[in-house]
Amino acid sequence: MASRGRDPVVSARGLVKDFGRLRALDQLTVDIPRGATYGLVGPNGSGKTTFIRAIVGLLKLDKGELNVLSRPVSRVQEIYSRIGYMTQHKALYPDLTLQENLEFFAGLYGIDKQERERRISELLEMVNLAEHRQRLAGTLSGGMYQRLSLACTLIHEPELLLLDEPTVGVDPRLRQTFWDYFERLTSEGKTVIITTHLMDEAEKCRIVGYMRAGRMTAAGSPEEIKRHAGLKPYLQLWLRDPKKDASLLRARGYEVDMAKGAAARIRLESHDQIKDVLDAVSPLDMRLKEPTLEEAFLKLSEGA
Ligand SMILES: Nc1ncnc2c1ncn2[C@@H]1O[C@H](COP(=O)(O)OP(=O)(O)OP(=O)(O)O)[C@@H](O)[C@H]1O
Ligand SMILES: [Mg+2]
Repeated sequence: MASRGRDPVVSARGLVKDFGRLRALDQLTVDIPRGATYGLVGPNGSGKTTFIRAIVGLLKLDKGELNVLSRPVSRVQEIYSRIGYMTQHKALYPDLTLQENLEFFAGLYGIDKQERERRISELLEMVNLAEHRQRLAGTLSGGMYQRLSLACTLIHEPELLLLDEPTVGVDPRLRQTFWDYFERLTSEGKTVIITTHLMDEAEKCRIVGYMRAGRMTAAGSPEEIKRHAGLKPYLQLWLRDPKKDASLLRARGYEVDMAKGAAARIRLESHDQIKDVLDAVSPLDMRLKEPTLEEAFLKLSEGA
């Protein structure tokens, strides 16, 4: 029992799920540690939603072993009150007000009236919908609806959160509020598993798992993934005399890529080389570009 706290919150070994002839999960193996923000990323159809549905026990797996909060997933119903799941699709009651939707979910989890009111107020505040309490959910804009969905998912203070593209349609300022809140949750030891197509969000996760064709092809911190993809920073240079300057740089052993528009690109082995480049040429302008997570994923999916 003492080791429980250190068990991964989700542990998957060789998961297989077929929909007819389509293999949605293909020997998926991954451990998700407690207290992390874990970003699930990958192209459309790579199996992210399928994996999340498997974790909440909504899917019968064809093969593999899956443990959630230290229990086999076949018994996940016993711990529903510790899990919060926000689906990619609409799941609220359009004919109920915001307040009533939240009360409904609070009621499901048996939260008493006084506590219920406290949490509803706090969550409506967090998602910036307090003034719309009495509106019907069906009349909300897309982004407002997402915000209400998140509030309903959090009402019972779950320790494991599964959020399937929760920030779609949410404006940048409020997205930041969401992420601040996720950080608060993980600092309390809760785990947030989140799917996203936005690389700036993936960068905020402590661990990112990249899925492709039902497998986890890379997992680690954003920095580890960039390193794993072997990406180096590069310099973008607007050269005075592109032809002559490029040959000067090549003479020093740099690979100069002139293919992408007006600026030349040079991959750097280390930042120390910037000085050497500037000894050789004096460009009109230059920019140092650090590798992005997006580039790393593109590189990794080329190789897969
Ligand atoms: N109930 C189902 N019946 C048949 N095929 C399904 C079903 N659910 C998912 N699939 C298929 O399984 C594959 C994985 O789908 P999934 O929804 O897990 O992808 P995803 O990574 O979440 O994609 P997205 O980024 O578009 O949300 C897709 O090819 C999808 O069409
Ligand atoms: Mg999905």
